[in-house]
Amino acid sequence: MKKVGVLGSGVVGRTLADGFEKRGYEVMLGTSNPKKLLDWQSGTNGKVGSFTRAADFGDLIVLAVKGVAAQDIVAQVKVGISDKLVLDVTNPLSEEKSKDGIRKFFTNEDESLMEKLQELVPEAHFVKAFNYFDSKAMVNSAKSKAQIMNICGNEDGAKAEAKEILAQFGFKSKDLGKVEAAREIEQMAISL
Ligand SMILES: NC(=O)c1ccc[n+]([C@@H]2O[C@H](COP(=O)([O-])OP(=O)(O)OC[C@H]3O[C@@H](n4cnc5c(N)ncnc54)[C@H](OP(=O)(O)O)[C@@H]3O)[C@@H](O)[C@H]2O)c1
Repeated sequence: MKKVGVLGSGVVGRTLADGFEKRGYEVMLGTSNPKKLLDWQSGTNGKVGSFTRAADFGDLIVLAVKGVAAQDIVAQVKVGISDKLVLDVTNPLSEEKSKDGIRKFFTNEDESLMEKLQELVPEAHFVKAFNYFDSKAMVNSAKSKAQIMNICGNEDGAKAEAKEILAQFGFKSKDLGKVEAAREIEQMAISL
């Protein structure tokens, strides 16, 4: 059975963890605060561990932490995610208040969060995915307005693996290119 380490205990981490479990994967959810997940754990076979343990556990990784914390957390799990597919669901949302309903990013248009993460751990195979979909739609494509998901990343093998996984979740994938295409895909989350 394939193992997935889901880094992130928020609604996205929990929803995707459930989604992977339903599709036959063995799941460990990573958090710095396992008590937060007692409720989640009681309704599932999923395991809970630190970010590092969950990264070591997974054959593939889902990164679903708060954007402002992503670089610190990825630096912590560097060894565990090396040579693995990392489905990057994060968005570079700033902690500044949104203005007129428009959310603010801490990146500018010439950069993306995924480029920063890829630079931090060149050995990991980051693929942007799921980041501009509502969490419920991520695991139930019938509830999604779009059935095609834009992805990008440097490693062709990792993108092929990501495409197979997205197909299991009911999505077709459109490959927009290398890591720099994350600038466009992260911007798509601004209206989420
Ligand atoms: N919500 C959505 O519908 C949606 C849709 C698409 C993409 N996304 C993206 O997916 C990621 C996860 O979103 P989310 O809504 O599930 O949860 P979130 O609140 O953005 O993130 C929660 C996770 O981030 C970690 N974290 C680290 N430092 C933090 C800090 N200073 N404040 C809060 N959390 C911190 C938490 O750690 P602990 O486990 O240790 O508490 C937890 O695991 C984000 O990057 C978001 O932009 C969200």
